[in-house]
Amino acid sequence: MIPPLSQTCPPQPLGLEAIRSGLRTERLGRTLHLYDRIESTNTTALALAEQGAPEGTVILADSQTQGRGRMGRSWISPPNLNLYFSVVFRPNGDPSRVGLWSLAAAVAAARTIEQVTALPARLKWPNDILVHSRKVSGLLLESAIQSGRVKHLVLGIGLNVNLARNVLPDSLRNSVTSLREELGRDLDRVELFQRLLEQLENQYQSFQTEPPYKVLESYTALSDTLGQSVTVQVPDREWTGQAIGITPAGDLIVQRPDGQQTVFRSGDVVHVRGTHAARD
Ligand code: BTN
Repeated sequence: MIPPLSQTCPPQPLGLEAIRSGLRTERLGRTLHLYDRIESTNTTALALAEQGAPEGTVILADSQTQGRGRMGRSWISPPNLNLYFSVVFRPNGDPSRVGLWSLAAAVAAARTIEQVTALPARLKWPNDILVHSRKVSGLLLESAIQSGRVKHLVLGIGLNVNLARNVLPDSLRNSVTSLREELGRDLDRVELFQRLLEQLENQYQSFQTEPPYKVLESYTALSDTLGQSVTVQVPDREWTGQAIGITPAGDLIVQRPDGQQTVFRSGDVVHVRGTHAARD
C-alpha cells in the first residue's frame, strides 16, 4: 500500500554549483552542461562526443522535449521533477563489450536508489530499474563504432524522482512509478544525481578492469528476470520461456518449453508472473 504523499519540500532546482559542491567523482561530471530544456540529452551528448568531448562529460536537463527510450519509444520528461542526463564514455575497445556495460550501468542505478532511499531496487533485463515491480528508471546506451572499435558511447539515464503517477497516461500508470510514489515524500534530485555519478564511475572502473563474470555477479544479484517465466518481444515476434542465464556479452538466455535455448541481444522482457508486468 502506498502511503499518502506529503510535499516535504518545494521542488529543488538543479543548480551547477550545488551539484559540483558535493560531487565526489574523479572524471564523471567534471565537464557538466546543464539545460533547462533540451530535445534529448542523448542527442546532444552524441553530438558533443563526435566533436571530441572528453570522457565523463555529462549533459543534464531539467526537461526534455523529445526524450528517447529504448526500442524507438519516447521518454516522458516533464520539468522540475526527475533526472534526465547522458554521459560520454570512451572505453578502448571491442563493440561486443557494450552490452555488458549497459548491465553494469543498471547495477549503478539500482545501487544508488538503495543507497539514497533504502528502497529495494531490482533489474529487469537488460537495464530497467524496478521498485516493487514497477519501472522507476530506464537506460539508453548508444554507441559510435569506427573500424570495428568503439569510438564513443553515450549512456542516457532517466530516473523518475518526484513524478506523481497520476500524471502518467493510463497505459503507463500501472507499470511505471517514481521514488516519491514509493517513499511517500519528495527527494533531493541533486543528491541523487551526485550519488548516481559516483556509482557509475565505480561501475565503469570495474567494467574496465575486471573480468566479465564480476559484472555479471553484481548484475545477477539484483536481477528480477533470471529464473522467471518471461515473454521476450522483438519486432514482429515474441517468445515465451524461462530466463536461465546471461552470457558474458550481456545477452539473455531463454529456455523455451521444448527445451531449446534462444539468446537475445535486445528485446522487451515481460515478467509473466510479475505483479505489474512492467513493460515501459
Ligand atoms: C528506456 O526506454 O527505458 C530508456 C529510457 C532512457 C531515457 C533517458 S532520459 C535521458 C536520456 N536522454 C534521452 O533522450 N533518453 C535518455
